[in-house]
Amino acid sequence: MRSKIVAGNWKMNKNLDETRTLLAEISAKLPDTSAEVMVAPPFVNLNGAVNALDSSVIEVVAQNMHFAENGAYTGEISANMLLHIKVHTVLIGHSERRAYFGETDELLARKVAAALAHGMRVIFCFGEELEERKTGRHFEVVKRQLKNALFPLEAVVWKSIVLAYEPVWAIGTGETASPEQAQEMHAFIRQTITERYDHTIADAVSILYGGSVKPNNAKEIFSKPDVDGGLIGGASLVADDFTAIVGAI
Ligand code: PGA
Repeated sequence: MRSKIVAGNWKMNKNLDETRTLLAEISAKLPDTSAEVMVAPPFVNLNGAVNALDSSVIEVVAQNMHFAENGAYTGEISANMLLHIKVHTVLIGHSERRAYFGETDELLARKVAAALAHGMRVIFCFGEELEERKTGRHFEVVKRQLKNALFPLEAVVWKSIVLAYEPVWAIGTGETASPEQAQEMHAFIRQTITERYDHTIADAVSILYGGSVKPNNAKEIFSKPDVDGGLIGGASLVADDFTAIVGAI
């Protein structure tokens, strides 16, 4: 059985005090669940979050990392630095990284490979833009993103990969993909992985949906057979909303 996961992507929000406050609220309101629950604060607050959550079931994950071991990469963070502060999971390929920081499929392939080589777990984010969906190219785009960044990988590392399908037009816009659109794409993703690898890998990988998931739509989206949870942006910054979404799974 693949894991159910609800992960909160805090993006560039919350200072250290606010981070501690929000984590305390989330911890207090967290419903009993068999799902994995994760939060991704900004780099500067990761250590504080790990310490604040000490023996909690909530896992702290990073929003990004560099592919190099160390060196002259001003402003960047390496896998070793994350592991040293007990952060074992990293988001790679978020659409905001692609759009605002010029991250290409080729760069993302290097980041994914580096994270996996360090034994980290990767939540790989991808999804089409509005224009691509309008012109019927969404399947083609998603396939290309998978192919370029993940399909060079050996089958054995797929146990450390989680996918997050996030149509760009649904991120932060209040417009969600319908549960049917999410299911259709998630099924397509599994089929594409089956073609490159096999059924076992395609069936075992958790595929999260992201893009305006809120307490009032989470249950319906999560009820689809190929949707294994969510990557939550805006609603993860409000303890009541985030814990309600966890409850919905
Ligand atoms: P949103 O963001 O829930 O605010 O749409 C999702 C994401 O960017 O991961």
